[in-house]
Amino acid sequence: MTVKIYKSVLSNQVIESLLDFFNSNTNLHSDTMGMTKINLPWKHVQHILEPILKKYIPVDKNLGDNFYKHSFPYFTHIDSGNNKNSYNVLIPLYLSHKAAKQKFVVFDQYCTDYSGATWLGDIWKPQQDFKLNKKRDFPYKDPTVVGCTDRPISDEMYQILKYDYRNEEQFYGLTGIAYDYTPGNILVFPSNQLHCTGRMDCDYKIGLSLRFEILDKSQIL
Ligand SMILES: [Fe+2]
Repeated sequence: MTVKIYKSVLSNQVIESLLDFFNSNTNLHSDTMGMTKINLPWKHVQHILEPILKKYIPVDKNLGDNFYKHSFPYFTHIDSGNNKNSYNVLIPLYLSHKAAKQKFVVFDQYCTDYSGATWLGDIWKPQQDFKLNKKRDFPYKDPTVVGCTDRPISDEMYQILKYDYRNEEQFYGLTGIAYDYTPGNILVFPSNQLHCTGRMDCDYKIGLSLRFEILDKSQIL
């Protein structure tokens, strides 16, 4: 499985117009587990992003996902939405503390259950159900997760991931890469690859997550 990073592809002007859309359309905001979202953003931002994104990936079939603003790191999850050819396009837009070294981690491991999943470990369980993803416990104990090692997460990676409701066991068996969460850059990866937010050293961040169906992987430049 591959992760593609495209650096400095969005101008400040494009980033500003996306942020302006998110911040000014509070009537479209919804709240999921303390995260503010605007769902199904493509219809709103297609005219801004399509000319840019189509240089790198096919964008004919959008599958979701959302604008988000959050102040705590999100759990390890996948977003396939029952589509084996779904790809995530992560578009960082804003960090409340610009000098903060915010990371986004994409693991090497992937999930064979395409319906969607979030791995919460056993420290804390939210009462309410997620709209799409199934709650699961630990990736390394999960038969639908492929590629786990029989070793703890590396110390270096755990320093990036650890947070008050996260413990080391939640990441046992996982390996991967921590990418800088840098506005202007775009990250593309298969939606069934496990991923999560790194420890947050800023008050909040705003980003845009899009998903597209890509049937021919060779079209991802
Ligand atoms: Fe995600």
